[in-house]
Amino acid sequence: MGQTILVTGGAGYIGSHTCVELLNAGHTIVCVDNLSNSSPVAIERVQELTGKEIAFHEIDLLDAAGLDGVFAGRRIDAVIHFAGLKAVGEGQAQPLRYYQNNVTGTLVLLDCMKRHGVTDIVFSSSATVYGRAPAPLREDAPIGAEGVYGRTKEMIERILQDLAAAEPNWRIVLLRYFNPVGAHESGRIGEDPRGIPNNLVPYIMQVAVGRLDKIRVFGNDYDTKDGTGVRDYIHVLDLASGHLAALESLPKLKGCRAFNLGTGTGYSVLEMLGAAERAVGKTLAHEVVDRRPGDLAVSYADPTRAKTELNWTAKKTLDDMCQDSWRWQSQNPSGYE
Ligand code: NAD
Ligand code: WQD
Repeated sequence: MGQTILVTGGAGYIGSHTCVELLNAGHTIVCVDNLSNSSPVAIERVQELTGKEIAFHEIDLLDAAGLDGVFAGRRIDAVIHFAGLKAVGEGQAQPLRYYQNNVTGTLVLLDCMKRHGVTDIVFSSSATVYGRAPAPLREDAPIGAEGVYGRTKEMIERILQDLAAAEPNWRIVLLRYFNPVGAHESGRIGEDPRGIPNNLVPYIMQVAVGRLDKIRVFGNDYDTKDGTGVRDYIHVLDLASGHLAALESLPKLKGCRAFNLGTGTGYSVLEMLGAAERAVGKTLAHEVVDRRPGDLAVSYADPTRAKTELNWTAKKTLDDMCQDSWRWQSQNPSGYE
């Protein structure tokens, strides 16, 4: 049966794709986003793709009174909490802003949920919480994020675990995403980073569309199949379906449980570049430069727990990811602008 889901950060990259899946599954969405890293056009396009309305509120999570108004006078069944700042380098440079936005923002949200009797939440965590633990990463691997951004995720995970331990009526899913890429197959919504992209696939796509010159490969002397970094890239629509599976698991859940959302397969930077060239239909200029400080050689999930307990697996291939990213980028060369 359709539920009413409060989606924080629903105008963002992963949030907008998850909203499409939620609406298509018959759920009703109330969305809170301060648009600090997103465009209202994403919400319009989600409505256009699904033919359904979203109750959108341009509100900052730190605005407790504003958030209270969103909960007041309606029944919310569960929250999916995407809202957060996520740029690794920016987090190192602006720790107070990152801790305030991500950690305090979550505390304000949880407090508001509690006051309104809402105790089911799915939280966007990250594989970055595993720090340098070796792949394949299982959920019981030691946690120890290295940077400020990752530590905001680790702290929020701990807060949620402590909450579930103290108040057994809470049901909490921590989803640890690996490397989300791709876009909706319509080409109408996708990833639209502000400024020069930090992440590999948006960077490649901006080279392909002529906004940037050439791809910089950060090191080819890692101990990997071709010397370049290996990651578990996952299509954003697979990620979106993982949120539906997590929501469905809540009624049976006791306390707080973490799940990896990844494919379990790692691809190198050069393999990703090859797949992008196949999708775009031309070679893309690249050069090998120094390693990026802080990067891991290899990171990929053991996705067994999500398969066993959520009945979820990622289905889309590396070629699907690149074709869909390219459709989005080529149809929207300047993003939502
Ligand atoms: P995004 O920046 O596209 O989306 C986040 C959204 O949250 C944006 O629309 C932004 O405006 C909003 N937001 C931020 N702070 C807010 C606040 N204080 N109040 C209200 N809205 C606020 O990022 P995304 O890639 O869609 O990521 C969604 C979540 O998943 C984030 O929590 C991110 O840390 C996490 N995550 C992302 C990745 C990734 O590589 N994209 C990987 C692992 C985890
Ligand atoms: C992927 C690979 C780079 C850019 C980051 C965050 C992580 C998570 C996902 C939120 C690496 C290489 C990259 C480029 C390159 N986010 N690369 N040239 O670093 O695995 O993860 O996003 O939770 O926390 O750290 O993703 O896309 O930046 O890099 O060669 O221009 O591509 O070295 O091997 P990363 P990425």
